[in-house]
Amino acid sequence: MTVVALVPAAGQGTRLGLNIPKAFVTLKDRSLLERAVDGLFTSGAVDEVVVMVPADMIERARELVPRARVVVGGAERTDSVRAGLAAAPGHDHVLVHDAARPLTPAPMIVRVVDALRAGASAVIPVLPVADTVKRVDADGAVLATVDRADLRAVQTPQGFTAEALHAAYAAAPGALATDDAGLVERAGGTVATVAGDPLAMKITTAFDLRIAQVLVEESA
Ligand code: CTP
Ligand code: MG
Repeated sequence: MTVVALVPAAGQGTRLGLNIPKAFVTLKDRSLLERAVDGLFTSGAVDEVVVMVPADMIERARELVPRARVVVGGAERTDSVRAGLAAAPGHDHVLVHDAARPLTPAPMIVRVVDALRAGASAVIPVLPVADTVKRVDADGAVLATVDRADLRAVQTPQGFTAEALHAAYAAAPGALATDDAGLVERAGGTVATVAGDPLAMKITTAFDLRIAQVLVEESA
């Protein structure tokens, strides 16, 4: 059974607010993209890696991650995943892993792939939610407190049988989703969970980048 990892890296990083696409921002000399791709190969659980980048970053990406296949992404994350799926046929399992999660530990990647090998058709790494969560109305007034025990924060890589992911994307041609498992759920599929890891944090804001910088310095 072969596993391909698709790495969406075609976003602009608007919330990070630097003047280059987020995947090309460096954390101690190595870009988020290099770190995310290296983590996938280091896990030993992945046979091929395909990265999706902005059209004007193709050559740069090929220099940074020579072991990966590099293709052009799309306007939305889902468009980028579609582009990656089209570029990597013929695998049994597909992981989708954000370039924006550069410190993802290899054992967590292995947990996702092990769950697929054990028969799951879709699997996501999750963490308990530490903060109390409330639902509010449009004015910000509290409507309800959500039972935290039932909530999980979701990370990547998310893993799928190629069949389940292709079916989910085919069932929702124009759909936008912040995560791929969401499309599998909408298509009626079952999604399993494995333990995530705080190190698999997503870099969204300048604050996240500062935290990641401290973590990288500590591990050096
Ligand atoms: N992504 C992508 N194609 C897009 C949009 C996002 O491949 N059209 C990727 C990003 O590069 C990132 C991952 O999806 O690795 C998660 O998206 P996000 O954290 O939202 O990154 P950006 O879209 O780059 O950031 P922002 O939303 O702040 O602009
Ligand atoms: Mg985005």
